[in-house]
Amino acid sequence: MNYSHFITAVSAARKASPIRLLTELMQKSPPSLISLAGGAPNPNTFPFKMATITTGDGTAVNIGEDLMKRALQYSASAGIPELLSWLKDLQKSLHNPPTANYSPDQGQMEICVTTGSQEGLSKVFEMLINPGDNILLDAPTYPGTLAALRPLGCNIINVPSDQYGIIPKALKEILSRWSPEDVRKHNNIPKFLYTIPNGGNPTGTSLTTDRKKEIYQLARQYNFLVIEDDPYYFLQFDKPWAPTFLSMDVDGRVIRTDSFSKILSSGLRIGFLTGPKPLIDRVILHIQVSTMHTSTFTQLMIAQLLQQWGEKGFLEHVDRVVEFYRVQRDAMLAAADKWLKGLADWHAPAAGMFLWIKIKGVSDTQQLIMEKALQKEVLLVPGGAFNIDSSVPSSYVRASFSLSSPAQMDQTLYAFMEGSPVRHAVMEKISQEVGSQLKTLKSLSNTRWACRAEAVAAVKQNYPIILQALQEIIETTRLPDPKIKARGLIHELNSFKFIFALHMMHPVLQMVVKVSKALQAPDLNLLTAMTGAKSLRNSLAVMRSGPEYFQSIFNDSVKMCVENDISIPTVKKRKMSTHIDDTFESQHHFDTKEEQERITSFYPLLDSVITGIDQRFEQKTCKTVTAMGKLLSLDIGRDDMRIIANKFKVSLDELEAEVRLLQVYDGSVPKGSTTNTTREWLDWLKESDQTSLFQAFYKSIQCFAAVLPVHVKEPFRNSHM
Ligand SMILES: Cc1ncc(COP(=O)(O)O)c(C=O)c1O
Repeated sequence: MNYSHFITAVSAARKASPIRLLTELMQKSPPSLISLAGGAPNPNTFPFKMATITTGDGTAVNIGEDLMKRALQYSASAGIPELLSWLKDLQKSLHNPPTANYSPDQGQMEICVTTGSQEGLSKVFEMLINPGDNILLDAPTYPGTLAALRPLGCNIINVPSDQYGIIPKALKEILSRWSPEDVRKHNNIPKFLYTIPNGGNPTGTSLTTDRKKEIYQLARQYNFLVIEDDPYYFLQFDKPWAPTFLSMDVDGRVIRTDSFSKILSSGLRIGFLTGPKPLIDRVILHIQVSTMHTSTFTQLMIAQLLQQWGEKGFLEHVDRVVEFYRVQRDAMLAAADKWLKGLADWHAPAAGMFLWIKIKGVSDTQQLIMEKALQKEVLLVPGGAFNIDSSVPSSYVRASFSLSSPAQMDQTLYAFMEGSPVRHAVMEKISQEVGSQLKTLKSLSNTRWACRAEAVAAVKQNYPIILQALQEIIETTRLPDPKIKARGLIHELNSFKFIFALHMMHPVLQMVVKVSKALQAPDLNLLTAMTGAKSLRNSLAVMRSGPEYFQSIFNDSVKMCVENDISIPTVKKRKMSTHIDDTFESQHHFDTKEEQERITSFYPLLDSVITGIDQRFEQKTCKTVTAMGKLLSLDIGRDDMRIIANKFKVSLDELEAEVRLLQVYDGSVPKGSTTNTTREWLDWLKESDQTSLFQAFYKSIQCFAAVLPVHVKEPFRNSHM
């Protein structure tokens, strides 16, 4: 291949540094060579003398005094010879590149070590891109690539992709704007296509072999290079591993970046470039004048380990890493299944460490993550960060499953959805847009109660099994953390306090959840909803004042404690303020355990729930919702219309006149007083072009619709209470 037209003038102008050449010559020479040529410092003056680095499998990497002197010294820009030759063998064995036996001019396979694959990538881009050049990639993609590309002034053409990577048909369509003549004259044909073929960052997608073949054929037809950025190659979950572009490279047009960051260490910064010699040599010249070379110490440390392991040992290590990530991936998928079903879409990644989640009904996740999720101490990456133009909105988030434990993943995805920041964000946005004040209605869709109720019901039902499971954890695990946590949990579960809390919370939460469930029905009747809220408050107040509720809860708790051999603590004879007032007279002792629990637990719980309900369904909101229910069914009096007119800032007289007109309208008008009727009215007014005729009516309904809860399916709704 003729590579000259791919290379920028800057890259073409790079010349080997004579001093660097001498360094390399010196390193290849026998120790007997006496050199006064180099500018290398004398390593005898360096403080470090020896090192032994032990690995998890018991292998020890020994760096004795002589090796240490080498490790601390300058070395060749392409990489130290033993590492290079190990890597060359590995590439041949894994990819069997057709170019391995080519002549240099034909694009013979060459390798160089880089300080992480990021260095290789940025140097390859700088070697190839002139301002204005076209290049192809499938966004969303790795931000490190985008950040390296943007300042080079190239024109990035986005190639559509799906869960199997780049869509060849779409690539073909893009390329069809260039004729064979353009190809012959190098008429601004895209210089290269960049892709992450396995476990893409952020999408987790992997390109299929058939697609790779089609893409490679297009690369041949249009004469562009392929940059195969493959740091997740070693993290493929299924074997056999997918054939790489390098393995298909009959022309010498593939530049492949590999990385040890995901399998040996990300901080050691070791990656390697594989590609046609004429191009890799240009990169090496660039390295000569920038970093000079990747740390010799790091290279030696890695080379020693790889030589001891051999390829077999290395691949066994990789298998262990893959197994770890497989378990992590499955845990992430299980958490997603549990908490995000119905709210989001995703595909199971075949490699890598990322789950790419599309949040339904959210056009941009940026604010959602940066404000809402952070408030809940949850951090995911908003999808926009991976777009060519990062200000373009994205409804995706990237969740990494590399560092968190399965329990943390579960917790994170739950917290992300809990109290439904997603829904709240959507509603907040709309209500801000219409400038409405009626925000309290959002809380109707709060799911926290449902979740707590489910948890309490589950613990109550499965109490002995949970204790047994915890006991088994203590007996079987050798890990100190879970063992201590399990012991702590058993201690807590085996207490009267806990049993009483379970019995106390269960009926209260059940009542709350029943109403909150009804309030979240997709088609909510506004009039009955408000009645439901009122009757819930009344029932809770009755529960608080009637002694029989408390008594049966207390008796059941005592019974369960007796059955499970849990002692019931006697009351502490201590002075206690009832908080009615803080005068001395109000201080008293509890005489019985019952009295203590009633005053210190039962009343505070019910009071807090009742206060919560009062706050959520404060009178004004209830009145507005009731009035809206009446308005929707056109069965409304002037007092209710006044509430609406004040709330949504419309003229009362106009609203009244419009309602009168609608009351005598033909039978086509919507009927009912539900949330669906709201939408039906909006559609009807728009479709019949009457939004300006019924301005006050339309505005009231529009403002109201904006603060209605968005209905979503949630996993815990189906739970057994
Ligand atoms: C797709 C992709 N390419 C390159 C890199 C850079 O990796 P390295 O640590 O080898 O520089 C990363 C790191 O996350 C990545 O995801």
